[in-house]
Amino acid sequence: MSSSLFKLIFFTSVFLLPCPVTSMEADALLKWKLSLDNDTQTLLSRLWPPVKSNHCSWAGVTCDNTTGSVTGIALNDYSFRLRGTLDDLDFLAFPNLISLQLRNNSLYGRIPSGVGSLSKLVFLDLSDNNFHGSMPEELGTLSSLQYLNFSWNSLTGRVPSSIGNLSNLESLYIYINHISGSIPIEIGLLRSLSTLKLSGNNLTGVIPVSIGNLTYLSTLKLHNNGISGSIPREITMLKSLNTLTLTNNSISGPIPASLGNMTSLSILVLSENSLTGLIPPGPVYGNLTNLQLSNNHLTGPLPENLCLGGVLTRFGAGNNDLTGSIPSSLRDCRSLYRVRLEGNHFTCNISDAFGVYPNLDYIALSDNEFFGELSPKWGQCPNLTSLRVSKNNISGRIPVELGRAARLGELDLSLNHLVGEIPKELGGLAMMSRLSLRGNRFSGKIPPEIGLLSNLEQLNLASNNLCGPIPDNLGNCSKLFSLNLSKNSLGWAIPSSISHMNALQNLDLSHNSLVGGIPQQFGSLHSLEILNLSHNMLNGSIPKAFNDLHGLRFVNISFNRLEGPIPDLRAFHEASFNALRNNKGLCGNATRLMPCALPSRASHGHERRIKLTILVAVPLFAVLLLLSLSLTFCKKTQTRESDPSYPESNEDQIGDFFTVLGFNGRQLHDSIIEATEDFSSDYRIGSGGYGTVYKAVLPTGQVAAVKKLHRSEDTMAINNSKAFESEIAALLEIRHRNIVQMYGFCSHRKHSFLVYEFVERGSLKMVLSNDEHAKELDWEKRINVVKGLASAVCYMHHDHSQPVVHRDISSNNVLLDFYYEARVSDFGTARILRPDCTNWTSLVGTYGYIAPGINSYLILFSG
Ligand SMILES: *[C@@H]1O[C@H](CO)[C@@H](O)[C@H](O)[C@H]1NC(C)=O
Ligand SMILES: *[C@@H]1O[C@H](CO)[C@@H](O)[C@H](O)[C@H]1NC(C)=O
Ligand SMILES: *[C@@H]1O[C@H](CO)[C@@H](O)[C@H](O)[C@H]1NC(C)=O
Ligand SMILES: *[C@@H]1O[C@H](CO)[C@@H](O)[C@H](O)[C@H]1NC(C)=O
Ligand SMILES: *[C@@H]1O[C@H](CO)[C@@H](O)[C@H](O)[C@H]1NC(C)=O
Ligand SMILES: *[C@@H]1O[C@H](CO)[C@@H](O)[C@H](O)[C@H]1NC(C)=O
Ligand SMILES: *[C@@H]1O[C@H](CO)[C@@H](O)[C@H](O)[C@H]1NC(C)=O
Ligand SMILES: *[C@@H]1O[C@H](CO)[C@@H](O)[C@H](O)[C@H]1NC(C)=O
Ligand SMILES: *[C@@H]1O[C@H](CO)[C@@H](O)[C@H](O)[C@H]1NC(C)=O
Ligand SMILES: *[C@@H]1O[C@H](CO)[C@@H](O)[C@H](O)[C@H]1NC(C)=O
Ligand SMILES: *[C@@H]1O[C@H](CO)[C@@H](O)[C@H](O)[C@H]1NC(C)=O
Repeated sequence: MSSSLFKLIFFTSVFLLPCPVTSMEADALLKWKLSLDNDTQTLLSRLWPPVKSNHCSWAGVTCDNTTGSVTGIALNDYSFRLRGTLDDLDFLAFPNLISLQLRNNSLYGRIPSGVGSLSKLVFLDLSDNNFHGSMPEELGTLSSLQYLNFSWNSLTGRVPSSIGNLSNLESLYIYINHISGSIPIEIGLLRSLSTLKLSGNNLTGVIPVSIGNLTYLSTLKLHNNGISGSIPREITMLKSLNTLTLTNNSISGPIPASLGNMTSLSILVLSENSLTGLIPPGPVYGNLTNLQLSNNHLTGPLPENLCLGGVLTRFGAGNNDLTGSIPSSLRDCRSLYRVRLEGNHFTCNISDAFGVYPNLDYIALSDNEFFGELSPKWGQCPNLTSLRVSKNNISGRIPVELGRAARLGELDLSLNHLVGEIPKELGGLAMMSRLSLRGNRFSGKIPPEIGLLSNLEQLNLASNNLCGPIPDNLGNCSKLFSLNLSKNSLGWAIPSSISHMNALQNLDLSHNSLVGGIPQQFGSLHSLEILNLSHNMLNGSIPKAFNDLHGLRFVNISFNRLEGPIPDLRAFHEASFNALRNNKGLCGNATRLMPCALPSRASHGHERRIKLTILVAVPLFAVLLLLSLSLTFCKKTQTRESDPSYPESNEDQIGDFFTVLGFNGRQLHDSIIEATEDFSSDYRIGSGGYGTVYKAVLPTGQVAAVKKLHRSEDTMAINNSKAFESEIAALLEIRHRNIVQMYGFCSHRKHSFLVYEFVERGSLKMVLSNDEHAKELDWEKRINVVKGLASAVCYMHHDHSQPVVHRDISSNNVLLDFYYEARVSDFGTARILRPDCTNWTSLVGTYGYIAPGINSYLILFSG
């Protein structure tokens, strides 16, 4: 009995005496719970069962063991987010609260001023909520506070100056809010502060010099604000400062020289400001692991001891006005991980400016004045994922060793002076997703190994001297969304495999020498938005399957030989005339195109086919007849043995020629004689090393340039007429935008001549010797002429079945068409006409023409 009484007394003394406080706390908690949003209440009811006396056992509530009073409320990181305000939380009910953690919820409204009554509060974390309004002035009374985290809210207003009262505060986080105004000068009173993060606000004004009094400050982050003024010298007094980030403010003026003495610094991020002057030298580089100075106006060279401590991993100084060379300490800095030096004026030989970096992941050197060749050492950077060296003066070839940088995902070598072939070793870089070699002088074929890059997303090889076909297996690059092969000398047909690139959005094959039709399979490029096939020699009609390309926004198919109806797509209907012009016969609903004949399409098509058949068949028949006649004639008159049978392919060529010119061989010969009045000087338009050129307007209205070959007593004969024929046939097959098209060749006892396409403006020499025309040929056009020339030479040297060397390119045989596009004439004539001439250094044209010694009457044609 007495023991039970004792027990009762004990019970009341321990548990009933503090009852006023603890029940007050429980009531306050329940009252707050009831103020929260309905769904939260439901969820919270599970954590806080409504049994008053037991609130210390509620989830997230901790009490003092001896007094039973609540010391901690931690409702963060539960599987749900609390929704509601703090307006109904009675802070006065928690006199012993030490820690309040409501991080990562969806609380909103203001932070109540009542928070100031939590006089014992040490830890306050309201981060990652939706609190708005300004920070209460009453925070200044939380004199025990050591940790304050209000980050990731929507707080506005200023940082209250009362914050200077928090003399025990060690960590102050208010980053990512909408705080404005300047940093209060009172911040200098926070003597215990070691971390200050105010980044991602709308702070203005200058960094207060009082910050120099924060002796223990190790982290100062003020990036992404609108802070102006200069970096106060006082910052460099912070002997413990380890991290300083001021990125993306409006800070101007020079970096204080004394900052070079801050050996405690490990991270220094000053990018995206308006800093001027030199990068200070000093022992600071002994401990720096991360130095970011990009996007300022810094001048002068990089400090020599940049990687003094050998611990620098991230270094950015891009987009400044830095000059000079790369310090040797950076070359030997094996710790480097990311480097950005693009957009400066660094001038040095790139081949020995950089070393071997086992950790290097990313390096950008674009837009500088580096010269020399790419070092094979880049291949020894096993973790390199990005190498950008665009817009420099790099020359030489791509080192094949680059193929060993197995993680390379981005290679940008555009706009340099690189030459040679694209190494097939690049095809081994399985991670490659962005490859740009645009605007160099690469020649040869596109290596089919590029098709092995199955992760390729962007490929830009534009504006080089590449020739040969588009590799068929490029279609294996199914992730490719942007393919630009324009402004090369690529020939052959567009491979139908291109349709396997399901992701393709942007396709530019313009300014090449592609032939054949547009593949039917284009219709499966459903992602296509931009298509440029202009300035090629594509023929036939646009496939019907184009009608499925609904995403197409921009199209340019001008300067081809396309015919027939344009697809029923907005991109075509709304295309400008310039995007469709200079084709063979496009029709449809678009600017300045003829409408297609609409009614009874089927019967009309039939009619057309008959017409076509007549058009093709009749002359073809005539040709064949004539051909066989002339062949018999040849046979009879030929003194030497030769194979009487024409190669079969020639028949097609002949057919083509006649459909183009509407003439047969004999008639053509006669018409030319007639049109030039037996080569009267009235029709003379020029003369070259091999002969005199006449303009012949044929009865059909077509204009041709006829080159009558000089006679010569030289007996250098074409001994093998079969070889001669095949040479001519090969020349007739040449199709290049920048090479004058040869139509045919006629050899006769009386006169031999070559028939060419007529080029409007005549030779470059003629244009240049006329003041008015020379003026019109402005620099842009002149550069274009040179490019065209290079393209033609590349094509003939690399793409042709047998390389053909011109041996006499001069302003005389570079002709200009109406658009001042260059056309080289006389390509291959040297080889045909002087086949055994081996003195490659001699200027062929100046020696004149040596007549082929055949008597036979021979005409070869093609279209
Ligand atoms: C919450 O519930 C109360 C009473 O059940 C109701 O009046 C109030 O509209 C509800 N609030 C919301 C936001 O659903
Ligand atoms: C309070 O009690 C809990 C459990 O009963 C124990 O884990 C904790 O260490 C105690 N704290 C103090 C300060 O005695
Ligand atoms: C925040 O809470 C959500 C659940 O509401 C959780 O999934 C997420 O991981 C939490 N985030 C952090 C940073 O704790
Ligand atoms: C401050 O709060 C943010 C957001 O909840 C959190 O990510 C961060 O870790 C906190 N800072 C520190 C130093 O605890
Ligand atoms: C700051 O502290 C002083 C003295 O400790 C006190 O008088 C003043 O009211 C406090 N300021 C604020 C805003 O709390
Ligand atoms: C920042 O402040 C300026 C002027 O004080 C104001 O115009 C701007 O809207 C603010 N921006 C944000 C994101 O709060
Ligand atoms: C730094 O503190 C000293 C006193 O310790 C004071 O005299 C000085 O004015 C303070 N400097 C700044 C910039 O607040
Ligand atoms: C850096 O420190 C050295 C040695 O303490 C001193 O002589 C020099 O003046 C300091 N440099 C700057 C720019 O403060
Ligand atoms: C680098 O920092 C460490 C501590 O972070 C310090 O002990 C050391 O002196 C610093 N090194 C230099 C060269 O200042
Ligand atoms: C290369 O990267 C891999 C994974 O990112 C990493 O495990 C490895 O340590 C790195 N190698 C070097 C030499 O840094
Ligand atoms: C031609 O195209 C325009 C623009 O797409 C359209 O407005 C117009 O109706 C079309 N006309 C015909 C005859 O289809």
